[in-house]
Amino acid sequence: MKITIVGAGSVGSSCAEYIAIKNFASEIVLLDIKENFAEGKSMDLMQASVLNNFNSQINGVTNDYSKTQDSDIAVITSGIPRKPGMSREELININAKIVKNVANNLLKFSPNIIIIVVSNPMDTMTYLTHKVLNISKRRIIGMGGILDSARFKYRISEQLLSPMSDIEGMVIGAHSDKGMIPLSRFATKKGIPISNFLSPNKIKLIENETKVGGATLTKMLGTSAWYAPGAAVSSLVQSIACNQLKMYTCSVLLSGEYGFSDISIGVPVIIGRNGVEEIVELKLNSVESEMLEKSVQSVKLTNGLLESM
Ligand code: 2OP
Repeated sequence: MKITIVGAGSVGSSCAEYIAIKNFASEIVLLDIKENFAEGKSMDLMQASVLNNFNSQINGVTNDYSKTQDSDIAVITSGIPRKPGMSREELININAKIVKNVANNLLKFSPNIIIIVVSNPMDTMTYLTHKVLNISKRRIIGMGGILDSARFKYRISEQLLSPMSDIEGMVIGAHSDKGMIPLSRFATKKGIPISNFLSPNKIKLIENETKVGGATLTKMLGTSAWYAPGAAVSSLVQSIACNQLKMYTCSVLLSGEYGFSDISIGVPVIIGRNGVEEIVELKLNSVESEMLEKSVQSVKLTNGLLESM
């Protein structure tokens, strides 16, 4: 199993580290445009291999896509991250050009590749990748909701003083501060709805903290987060590589599902060897459906900016 990660920044190198430690990949190619940067990150990661007990071979390259030849899966993390106070949408001008170029280069050397898009604004970058590559929609997956769901579970566990492993929770919609939809009605502690333990006000607090989870960390760190995004990507890569058929919220191109088309946005999907094996249609109530409608409109607005590029 050959995995390529484009962008050797904090998110990309965290992806590489988590994928390597899970030891299911024979080769991980880490590519960056900055001279010797990916090579340095790869050497550092490989020097930990005997301590972290992995056999995956991590190879760093400077902007040479021939080294990504015949990759099974690729992760696009390249582009600029948010600064404190910025929205993900403000990154579109710079990141759209980068993602377009990267996507074309990846497909050129790996015609059967499955691509995971991380670069922000992620839903729009995922949509752009579909438009640029015109390959099966199963093979292009936007990483956002799986991360937002992890942050949702974190906030619930924090309020319930429970281990996160006891918590189930899902966030759908746009990977954006305003478009995210934490589905509290579906959230449970060991199968028991969280409304059994938390007041409506506490649940509202959790939902609001989840929506700004990324921005909160950007304020604290001065840049976007990287550990949880890296772990989220490695979970998606593993579900593809090992055909685990796990359900995660991912940004995928809808063709009538949930009543929407020609939009990539976060919904629950089954992830396996083919990429998106199935889109799961939840029975949303009227409030949730209205929130999803608004979220779709917000992403379509950002997608519209692509036309002027
Ligand atoms: C986040 O929410 C990077 O968008 C990513 O941290």
